[in-house]
Amino acid sequence: MNTNTDILFQPIKLGTHTLKNRFIVAPMTRRSASANGAPTTEMADYYAAFAQGGFNIIITEGTYTDNLFSKTDNHQPGLVTHEQSEGWKRVTEKVHQAAPYALIILQLMHGGALSQHTDKTIAPSAIQPKGLRNTEPGGLTGPFPLPSAMSKKDLQEAKDGFVQTAIRALIAGFDGVEIHAANGYLLDQFITPHTNVREDEYGGSYQSRLRFPIEVFTAIKAAVPKDFIVGIRLSESKVNDLTYRWPGGSEIAKEIFNTIKNLDFSYIHIASEGGNWARESLYDDGTSSNSIAKKITGKPIIVNGGMHDTTLATKLISNQEADLISIGRAAITNPDLPEKIKNGAPLAPFFKELIKDSLTLAHTKEMLKARAMTSTASTATII
Ligand SMILES: Cc1cc2nc3c(=O)[nH]c(=O)nc-3n(C[C@H](O)[C@H](O)[C@H](O)COP(=O)(O)O)c2cc1C
Repeated sequence: MNTNTDILFQPIKLGTHTLKNRFIVAPMTRRSASANGAPTTEMADYYAAFAQGGFNIIITEGTYTDNLFSKTDNHQPGLVTHEQSEGWKRVTEKVHQAAPYALIILQLMHGGALSQHTDKTIAPSAIQPKGLRNTEPGGLTGPFPLPSAMSKKDLQEAKDGFVQTAIRALIAGFDGVEIHAANGYLLDQFITPHTNVREDEYGGSYQSRLRFPIEVFTAIKAAVPKDFIVGIRLSESKVNDLTYRWPGGSEIAKEIFNTIKNLDFSYIHIASEGGNWARESLYDDGTSSNSIAKKITGKPIIVNGGMHDTTLATKLISNQEADLISIGRAAITNPDLPEKIKNGAPLAPFFKELIKDSLTLAHTKEMLKARAMTSTASTATII
C-alpha cells in the first residue's frame, strides 16, 4: 500500500456500521433507466462494479420521489411504482452480493424549477431559473420554464413523496437514503435567497428557508428504523450556476450548520458540483464549508469535488476537516478506484464527452471502449 494514502483505508463508524475505508461513489445521474423510470439489469451491473472495486458506500443517482413534479430528466429512475421498486431490489441485491460490506444509499431528488423534461414545474417562488436546460437526446431545450410557487398542498405532497420513497427504499434493500438539498434542485431552491422570496414561514432568514428541508428530514426519520442511514447533501454551487457561493461566505456556513446541528443526520455531504473543491468550498479565511460543518455539527462529513486527488483527500481527512470522500467522474472510468489507489496503480482519465454527449450507460460503455485508456498518470486527469 502507498503509505501516504493509509488514512483513506482506516475504518470508521457510521451509525451502526463500521466502514473499512473512506471511499464513496458520489451520486451521478446516468439517464439509463427504462422509459418508465425503472432501473435496468445494466444498472445493477453498473452499481455492483463499484462494490466489487472497493467503494464502501455507493450513493445512487438522484431518484425521483413522486409522480407529480419531482422527476427531473427523461430516463431518470424513480422509486414510486412497483416496477421501479422491483428494479431497485435487483440493484441492491447485486451490490450486496458483490461485496457484503458495501452499503448502498438512495439519493432522494426533487428537481423543482430545474426539471428538464416538462414545462410544468414548481418551486418555492415563481422565479425563472438561470441558464438553459441541459440538452439531452430527444429532450426539451431552451430556457427553463417559469415555475409555479408551491402552495401548502404542494409542500405537503412533495414531503409525502420524500417520506414514502424513503420507506420504499428500505423495503427495496437500501441501507439508507440521502436527501438531495444541493446543486440547485428543489430543497436547495428553498435554502437559496434568490430562488426563495416567500413571505410565509418558509422564506426570510436562513432558519426559515431551511424549514422545509428540515421538515422533510424529520418526517423521514419518524418513518424509518433508527439504524437506517439518513444523510443530507448540501452545496453552494448549482448545476445552472456553477460559480454561485453563499453570500456572506463562512458566516452563512456557520448559520446553516448551527441551524441543523441538533438534527440526527447520519452524515452531511458537501458537494462541489463543478468538481473543484477549492473553488466551491474553500473560503478566503482558509476555512471551508466542510471544515465548518465538521466543527459545528460533529457529524461525519463527506467532502467532494476532485477527491481522486488523493493528496488533497488525505490532507482534508488528516486535518479532521472531513471524514469521508465521495468521488464522481473518476469513479465512472475507475469503478475499482479504491483498489487502484491501494495498489498504487494509475487511474484511467475521464473525458468530457462522457457527460456532454450522453449520460446513458450503454453510450458510456461504447465511448470507454472506443477510447484507449492509456494514461500513466497516478491520478485521473479530469478534462
Ligand atoms: C454525470 C454526472 C451526474 C451527476 N448527477 C448528480 C446527481 O444525480 N445528484 C447529485 O447530487 N450530484 C450529481 N452530480 C455531481 C457529483 O455527485 C459530484 O458532486 C461532482 O461530479 C463533483 O465530484 P467529482 O469531482 O468527483 O466528479 C453529477 C455529476 C456528474 C459528472
